[in-house]
Amino acid sequence: YDEINLNVGCPSDRVRSGTFGACLMLTPGLVADCVAAMKSAVDVPVTVKCRLGVDDQDTGPALDALADAVVAAGCDGLWVHARKAWLSGLSPKENREVPPLDYGRVHALKRRLPDVFVGINGGIPSLDEASRQLDHVDGVMLGRAAYHTPAILLDVDRRFFGIDAPQDVRAAALAMVPYVEKELARGARLSQTARHMLGLFHGRPGARQWRRILSVEGARPDAGVEVLFEALAAVEAGGLDILGQTSETGLIDLQPA
Ligand SMILES: Cc1cc2nc3c(=O)[nH]c(=O)nc-3n(C[C@H](O)[C@H](O)[C@H](O)COP(=O)(O)O)c2cc1C
Repeated sequence: YDEINLNVGCPSDRVRSGTFGACLMLTPGLVADCVAAMKSAVDVPVTVKCRLGVDDQDTGPALDALADAVVAAGCDGLWVHARKAWLSGLSPKENREVPPLDYGRVHALKRRLPDVFVGINGGIPSLDEASRQLDHVDGVMLGRAAYHTPAILLDVDRRFFGIDAPQDVRAAALAMVPYVEKELARGARLSQTARHMLGLFHGRPGARQWRRILSVEGARPDAGVEVLFEALAAVEAGGLDILGQTSETGLIDLQPA
């Protein structure tokens, strides 16, 4: 690994029952001890991912106390999911949606710790918003947007790192083929990898065919990499809209004959 990240932002019951995850926001000294132990064991950067606080903690002192403790222990950077976590009463999914986002609190942390890497996370849907955040913090982490609309990442290298990388979703799909083949050879089912690629063509012509073929054909127990090629061929034909209808996204999509 290039970096070890200690997650003290997860509110799930299972995690909490093992006394890790977001409940550790209540014990900054213990998190600092963990960071110190990790730092002494590895040569790669050790970072911490946290929330603004938990339950009825005041996010002012709570976040500062955690940040100061781990930075003093040698932490190389902080990733902050810009909302609180509620340790009881909300599911992990609700804990990603219900507590309000407060980006300003993360920006204030960065202003207070100008020499420490501070990255922001939570509800950032696009590279435009990521770009705006980078006026205030050192890094932006996309979670659900990267998963549900992975093609937005095609522009990251060009836009943020000045690298003229290919912008081709089809090439990205093909680049997955060796990995998928390796997993199939290990005995995995196609659906175990393909399900994470369903959003690849989101919002583009052929997206619905891509999803349908991967999720229906790809679910067969004997499905192989040929299903990926079949889905790609459907995407390539996708601009043709043979029945003159449009998909639920409003974009032209290939309809089943
Ligand atoms: C299915 C799922 C699994 C997640 N697992 C982890 C995890 O293992 N470690 C972690 O630090 N965050 C995990 N997260 C939280 C994300 O890293 C991120 O903090 C959260 O989704 C908010 O960012 P977003 O609004 O950009 O999605 C997970 C999120 C989802 C949706």
